[in-house]
Amino acid sequence: VRTPERRVAVFGAGYIGLVTGACFAELGHHVVVRDIDPEKVALLRSGEVPIYEPGLGDMIARNKERLTFTLDLEETLDGAEIAYVCVDTPPSASGDADLSRLWSVVRSLEGATRLKAVVVKSTVPVGTGARVRAALDEAGLSHVGYAANPEFTAEGRAVEDFLHPDRVVIGAADDATARLIEELHAGVDGPVVVMDVRSAEMVKLASNALLATKISFINEIATLCEKTGADVEEVAKAVGLDHRLGPHFLRPGIGWGGSCFPKDSEALRQLASNTGYHLQLLSAVIEVNNLQKRRAIQKLQDELGTLTGKRVALLGLTFKPGTDDMREAPSTVLAARLLAEGAEVRCWDPMARPPAAEPWSSTTRHETPELAVEGADAAIVVTEWPQLREADWAHAAAVMRRPVLFDGRNLLDPAAMRALGFTYMSVGRP
Ligand code: UGA
Repeated sequence: VRTPERRVAVFGAGYIGLVTGACFAELGHHVVVRDIDPEKVALLRSGEVPIYEPGLGDMIARNKERLTFTLDLEETLDGAEIAYVCVDTPPSASGDADLSRLWSVVRSLEGATRLKAVVVKSTVPVGTGARVRAALDEAGLSHVGYAANPEFTAEGRAVEDFLHPDRVVIGAADDATARLIEELHAGVDGPVVVMDVRSAEMVKLASNALLATKISFINEIATLCEKTGADVEEVAKAVGLDHRLGPHFLRPGIGWGGSCFPKDSEALRQLASNTGYHLQLLSAVIEVNNLQKRRAIQKLQDELGTLTGKRVALLGLTFKPGTDDMREAPSTVLAARLLAEGAEVRCWDPMARPPAAEPWSSTTRHETPELAVEGADAAIVVTEWPQLREADWAHAAAVMRRPVLFDGRNLLDPAAMRALGFTYMSVGRP
């Protein structure tokens, strides 16, 4: 049986909204994506994609019959059956998620009596759905269903993750809404799990917190490996072979960043503390992540004595390879600390768009890693871009003032780097 094509209004043309909109269009639905940023909408209308996400540009282009972009609210809601809320929910000063954009979308739905369902995909504190439900009731939309449909796609592979997910989680209070959202996903290759709204909201936060926990755990084991002479890469490989533990998210490094883990772990901690419970394990996970960046600076200080007046090259700026996203990137923390210590910072990244503000306004950007390390007293591999594996390290060693290299991602081979004359340090490896 062919499932009906639906008319979907997507609010927010960020990473999640664009991927969601494009993928629903790819699945055969008619999608209007609305954003309040005129520049972004103009760009999308001219056929350009404001973010880098593999496959997204092509997908938008081949579905242009079914996928439009607009600033206009009426056009967005005209004939829409399902409203998908994909706006960002950044952390506020208190650590709670800032839901102002979400509420402004919910308010804008007043009068949209022909909607069948409102779905929140944005990551929100547990209990938000109940509040949205109450607001919809108050706006005369009590006949409109409500669902939570959290997002588990990772940047750099979001399109692939959306169409072939480990699971689709739908939280709904009634069967009809759950079925409607499940049908909307017909063609998505992955199991659908239906539950109540609060549990669905919790799955999202718990999943990201557990992934962050695995990374902080292996980072702590890496520190202990350094102190005991063990090799964390060997340890992680063998630990990960236990199918109960799994091999994923056991890569040690300079700490986790990005638009999700820092924000969501802080939001979960805050959510708990609002209920009067202190999440002890998660607090430690966050602390270990902060420590990991301080340890990187400490390693350079131990090697160079002082950082004042030293030139340091940061290689890779984005929070992970395969994206242009700089949100909560460890590189920003490192650059700020190095500048505060009086160092001169140079950098290289193939894709990052660092903000014009501090600390980046005080750093110099270079076209290649080899140029960035020229005359440097030390270099740090911050992001494991494959280009860095291919870099001309013999040349780099020759043009650095001091060939000190801290490989914060265990990207390079220690023996090979030492053979080139580097004072080579990495994470948890002898
Ligand atoms: C993460 C989750 O993986 C997604 O499932 C989730 O949907 C998303 O957050 C979200 O909440 O929207 P993302 O932030 O795109 O996705 O990136 P990841 O690939 O998970 O990496 C997060 C951070 O952890 C990066 O800084 C990465 O370098 C670091 N990491 C990852 C490690 O240090 N070690 C690892 O083994 C894995």
